[in-house]
Amino acid sequence: MSHAVTGAADDTAAGLPEWPLPRAEGCPFDPPPALRSHTAGKSLAKIRIWDGSTPWIITGHAEQRTLLNDPRVSVNESLPGFPHWHEGMAAGVDHRPRSVFNSDAPEHTHYRRIMTSPFTLKRVEALRPVVQKMTDDLIDKMLAGPQPADLVEALALPLPTMMISSMLGVPYEDHEFVQRHASAGIRHNSTMEQTMEVFMALNTYLVGQIEKKAADPADDALSDIAARVNTGDITVAEASMMGLGLLTAGHETSANMIALATVALLENPEQLAVLRDADDPKVVSGAVEELLRYLSIVHGGQRRVALEDIEIGGEVIRAGEGIIIELFSANRDANVFPEPDKLDLHRDNARHHNAFGFGIHQCIGQQLARVELQVVYGTLFRRIPTLRLAKPIEEIAFKHDRLAYGVWELPVAW
Ligand code: HEM
Repeated sequence: MSHAVTGAADDTAAGLPEWPLPRAEGCPFDPPPALRSHTAGKSLAKIRIWDGSTPWIITGHAEQRTLLNDPRVSVNESLPGFPHWHEGMAAGVDHRPRSVFNSDAPEHTHYRRIMTSPFTLKRVEALRPVVQKMTDDLIDKMLAGPQPADLVEALALPLPTMMISSMLGVPYEDHEFVQRHASAGIRHNSTMEQTMEVFMALNTYLVGQIEKKAADPADDALSDIAARVNTGDITVAEASMMGLGLLTAGHETSANMIALATVALLENPEQLAVLRDADDPKVVSGAVEELLRYLSIVHGGQRRVALEDIEIGGEVIRAGEGIIIELFSANRDANVFPEPDKLDLHRDNARHHNAFGFGIHQCIGQQLARVELQVVYGTLFRRIPTLRLAKPIEEIAFKHDRLAYGVWELPVAW
């Protein structure tokens, strides 16, 4: 473990709960109740993490947006005080090339410009018929197969994986390799060896793909990135990080949303009926925003470090202190969302959620995710109105230890 890059353990640590805290038994969609009692109505508090250091955890919606937009707040993981996810992330800090994930402006702006063009609203909207066809084909295949079916394997995982593979121009046949490694790479409490092994495997794969596209470009996003290597704008290592970020962030997240929302809707049939009976696409898009808010699948906290003293929420975050921005808390902030723990697909301000983050690091793939979710939720319950869980919810295994929350498998029948 590299002590140089972790926050120093402090004397107050012993009295603080250790983050991440567990969700309550029987409430798989709600944030850990102990976090609410720990912050006790305040919008930030100190918390203890794996290395004994005590960063701030930010739970208030307004405070999260303020900090995510503040240039005095950095994602530079090599700065002292940065609150690493786990030992493996801390130890590997000097081995990870720079990328959108760990750089601040203006370096971040440079990387981000190279990555965003395929994911704009206009470009992604043009792909809606492709997403619809893929969804219909996958549902047809599931319906033609035996019951119960695993909805994760049949629909939730293949749809976003096929989409991001085709947009990037990487072979879909490689998806098992990518999924296995990407899933292991976002586990809480990974060791340095596990983290490095996953990173090296994916990095080697992506470097190979970039070199191939640089030599023989096609009409895809990875070729556009590889072209910037040829012009000397970025290195192969930087290009590989871009491809890796898009490929891994592009499937696991949307896949978890599809499956987890299906569980939540099957448990709330009156809400499911809203989607099943919706004729207006606006009802479906509003429902997607509410499900993003309610489920907040990116959990465990976005990590930052303060570059200067920052006064916020009646406290002062000192320069060099770690910051953990727990998005699900903001999305259940009663100051913004009345009855925040209620799933209400007609909620009129659901789109103010922080599920895609906020500020300069806000999700690059959010328009793609929205289109995928709108098509799936708008299709699945209409085409299979009798869809039901094939085992009680208590027997479904949730991904508590991953950075993206979801279910491992989802047996369904109809
Ligand atoms: C429901 C699906 C998704 C959710 C909930 C989600 C959530 C997020 C969140 C919360 C962040 C901000 C991280 C931070 O501020 O530290 C983020 C960033 C990012 N997301 Fe997504 N995401 C989703 C889908 C996607 C897809 C489909 C892609 C691929 C195209 C993608 C690519 C990225 C990238 C590259 C970043 C880093 C942006 C930056 O640092 O500038 N995401 N995502």
